[in-house]
Amino acid sequence: MNAPGAALLEVDGLNVGFKTSDGLVRAVTDVSFRIDPGEVLAVVGESGSGKSVTALALMKLHPRSAVISGTAMFDGVDLLALGDADMRAVRGNSIAMVFQDPMTALNPVFTVGFQISEAVLAHNDVTKKAAWARTVELLDLVGVPEPRQRASQYPHEFSGGMRQRAMIAMAISNDPKLLIADEPTTALDVTVQAQVMEVLREVRKETGAAMMLITHDLGLVAGAADRVQVMYASRLFEAGAIDDIFYDSRNPYTRALLGSIPQVDSERTERLLAIPGNPPSLLNPSPGCPFMPRCSERVERCTEELPTLLEIRGREHRSRCHLAQELAPISEVLP
Ligand SMILES: Nc1ncnc2c1ncn2[C@@H]1O[C@H](COP(=O)(O)OP(=O)(O)OP(=O)(O)O)[C@@H](O)[C@H]1O
Ligand SMILES: [Mg+2]
Repeated sequence: MNAPGAALLEVDGLNVGFKTSDGLVRAVTDVSFRIDPGEVLAVVGESGSGKSVTALALMKLHPRSAVISGTAMFDGVDLLALGDADMRAVRGNSIAMVFQDPMTALNPVFTVGFQISEAVLAHNDVTKKAAWARTVELLDLVGVPEPRQRASQYPHEFSGGMRQRAMIAMAISNDPKLLIADEPTTALDVTVQAQVMEVLREVRKETGAAMMLITHDLGLVAGAADRVQVMYASRLFEAGAIDDIFYDSRNPYTRALLGSIPQVDSERTERLLAIPGNPPSLLNPSPGCPFMPRCSERVERCTEELPTLLEIRGREHRSRCHLAQELAPISEVLP
C-alpha cells in the first residue's frame, strides 16, 4: 500500500541505451519523474524523443539489446529490479498498457471477448462464466454497443475505434492503478480520436487509475492531463502542471511544439506545422543543448553547455534551458 501523499510511480535517473553496430544509441537519458495516484501525466515530444522507450522500459517490454539503469519505484517495489515472473504479475494487473495499434495487440484468431476474459482469468480466481460476464460489462463500460453479441466477434469485425475500445476494456479488466497509453488515438480519425479520449476519461473516473498518456500531439493533452512532461532527444526538457506548460512555458522547444498545434478554427493550415530542422543523432550527443541548432533563442552558451533541468518555481515546474527565467511571456510570442 502507498503511504498517504506518496507517489504511485517514482522514476529516478532512468537511462536506456541500445547497443548497435554504430555504437550506443541513447534513447532515454537521465529521466526522473513521478506520477501520483489517480493523476494523468502527459508525455509529449517529437518522434524519436524517447517516449515509448521510457514506457516500455518501465514495463520491461524493451528489446534484449537495451542497457538500462535507474530506479522506478511502483507501490514500494523497483520495477527495474523485478524478475520476469514478478513483472508478468505486474503487467496487465497493477499496470496495464494501451498501444497505438490495437490490431497488433489483439490476436486475429480469437474472439474479442475470449481475449478479454483470458486477461480477467489470468489475474483472478473466477469461473469462466464470471469472466465472460465481466467481459460483457467491460465492453459496455467502454461504449461498445450490444456488448453481449460483440464479445463473440473477431477483431477484424470491429472498426478501428471499436478495437481501441476493446483494448481499453482489456487494459482495465484487472483494475490497474496505472494505465500507460502510448499514442492511443494516433491511428484513428479525428472524430473517433475524441470518442476514445472520452472513453479513457470515463474509465479513469470509474477505476480511479492514474494514467501516463504518451502523445506527440499537445493539442490532445489540454483537456486530458493534469501535468505535462516534454521530452526532446532522449531527455526531459520541461515538466509542469498543464497551465504552466500551456500559458507559461519556460522552454523554447515546448513553445515550438505549442506553435505547431493545428488550429482548426484559425486561418492557419489544419495540418501539423512541423518545427523546422531535425532532432539530433542519439549516437554521439554533442556537449551543448541538443535543441540549439533549431532554437530561435540560442546564445553562445548553448553550444558548449547542456542546460540542467532547473526548477522554475515551486517543485512542479522544471525547464531545461539556459534562458528559462529570461524568456518573454508566452502571450507575447504565440498567437
Ligand atoms: N531497439 C532499438 N534499437 C536501437 N534504437 C532504438 C530501438 N528502439 C528505439 N530506438 C531509438 O530510440 C529513440 C527513441 O525511440 P522512441 O520509440 O522512444 O521514440 P518516441 O518518442 O516514442 O517516438 P514516436 O513519437 O515516433 O513514437 C529513437 O531514436 C529510436 O530510433
Ligand atoms: Mg512512440
